[in-house]
Amino acid sequence: MHLSDKKATLSFSDGSAPIDFPVYQGTVGPDVIDIRKLYGQTGMFTYDPGFMATAACESAITFIDGDKGQLLYRGYPIDQLATNCDFMDVSYLILNGDLPNAAQKTEFDSLVTHHTMVHEQLHFFLRGFRRDAHPMAVLTGLVGAMAAFYHDSTDITNPRHREVSAIRLIAKMPTLVAMAYKFSQGQPSIYPQNNLSYTGNFVRMMFANPCEDYQVNEVVERALDRIFILHADHEQNASTSTVRLCGSSGTNPFAAIAAGVACLWGPAHGGANEACLQMLEHLQANGGVEKVGEFMQQVKDKTSGVRLMGFGHRVYKNYDPRAKLMQQTCKEVLAALGLEKDPLFKLAMELERIALEDPYFVERKLYPNVDFYSGIVQRAIGIPTSLFTAIFALARTVGWIAQWNEMLSDPDYKIGRPRQLYTGSAVRDVAKRR
Ligand code: SDX
Repeated sequence: MHLSDKKATLSFSDGSAPIDFPVYQGTVGPDVIDIRKLYGQTGMFTYDPGFMATAACESAITFIDGDKGQLLYRGYPIDQLATNCDFMDVSYLILNGDLPNAAQKTEFDSLVTHHTMVHEQLHFFLRGFRRDAHPMAVLTGLVGAMAAFYHDSTDITNPRHREVSAIRLIAKMPTLVAMAYKFSQGQPSIYPQNNLSYTGNFVRMMFANPCEDYQVNEVVERALDRIFILHADHEQNASTSTVRLCGSSGTNPFAAIAAGVACLWGPAHGGANEACLQMLEHLQANGGVEKVGEFMQQVKDKTSGVRLMGFGHRVYKNYDPRAKLMQQTCKEVLAALGLEKDPLFKLAMELERIALEDPYFVERKLYPNVDFYSGIVQRAIGIPTSLFTAIFALARTVGWIAQWNEMLSDPDYKIGRPRQLYTGSAVRDVAKRR
């Protein structure tokens, strides 16, 4: 970042002396007012619940232009990455800042492939859960439990340790997600197969069984690989901010990523894809397209508490570019699997059409986000609804660990500790007790 010629001046109506604050500019996007000296100079805090106008850090990984509906990973537009690269290319890019050349790609693929197995004790840890536990509860536990097994890569001040734990987390997430799924099905876990691609290996661990050979379906592999790319990183969203804040205390990477998994689970965030599919299935079972008008009335009635899941975004005030790519993937996968008449996809398209014409949505700039179509694609390729957010966590792990590493690589980083506006009781004495 570099210092702008502009300064920001804070003046007070009570005649106190105005104060100047430096303004910094990034490569692209909004400038920032550096208010780090505000409290020292005024004794006051800023107030910004939900961080609507707060830049919590400097980052070079991902940029979103919400008005244009643009998403860049290390400067590359998401649509170009989704059509010209695979998830391992994009993971290397997000971690290292550039796309890999052929030799780097081969080495990175091999490094990740040879870390996909988990410690055998984790299979016993898994058995402690109920079979009907939500996969995100299991995944939060399994990722946190990794801290109990990989003591040789938890020194966060050691860049080599940070690199090893990044590879371990990216490599083992598919194995852990597949383990959680197989456990819920009462089936044995399928071990990783090193001659398969990252995503092909995940598909096999999900759908193979020990009793017969399994051939990875290329349509499914390609669709999932694109879903991973579209979910890989997204600036300082709630779960990434959780990973940064948790990691800023100096805790180990496995604990910090487990915190990110826990945060992503919420229906306002990564849990929206599961909630969106449940919304579509409920609508489909209760009148389908004919009842969309009635449903939209509920959505617009604030007292109903009903939201159009998969719509709206804190940053995008235009179409989420990932939603466009996901809709395209939806069409390709449904056609390839002979499911183009999928009623849920038709219902989703009708909901989108109506919403994009409705003043309520237009005035509030509410467009489909990444979660609106991802559930339909995942359902079409056989992923159970309850696993959608775990798939999101699998993909977002590379973004979380890259952002965590970026924070720890800054020698000036500090533990995050926000302040507050206190509105509780003034000091008071405990009355004499009997
Ligand atoms: C993800 O941050 C990220 O980058 C997240 C993510 C990532 O990749 O990490 O992109 C992934 O989390 C995508 C978002 C998934 N969530 C949903 O689809 C759930 C439904 N959407 C919302 O709940 C909501 O839109 C949020 C949470 C996504 C954004 O909420 P904001 O920015 O706090 O906006 P808001 O709740 O203040 O809404 C502004 C207005 C309100 O109406 P008014 O009070 O102005 O009259 O829009 C309305 C809201 O009631 N509104 C909706 C709506 N979303 C917002 N009304 C109906 N349906 C919706 N979905």
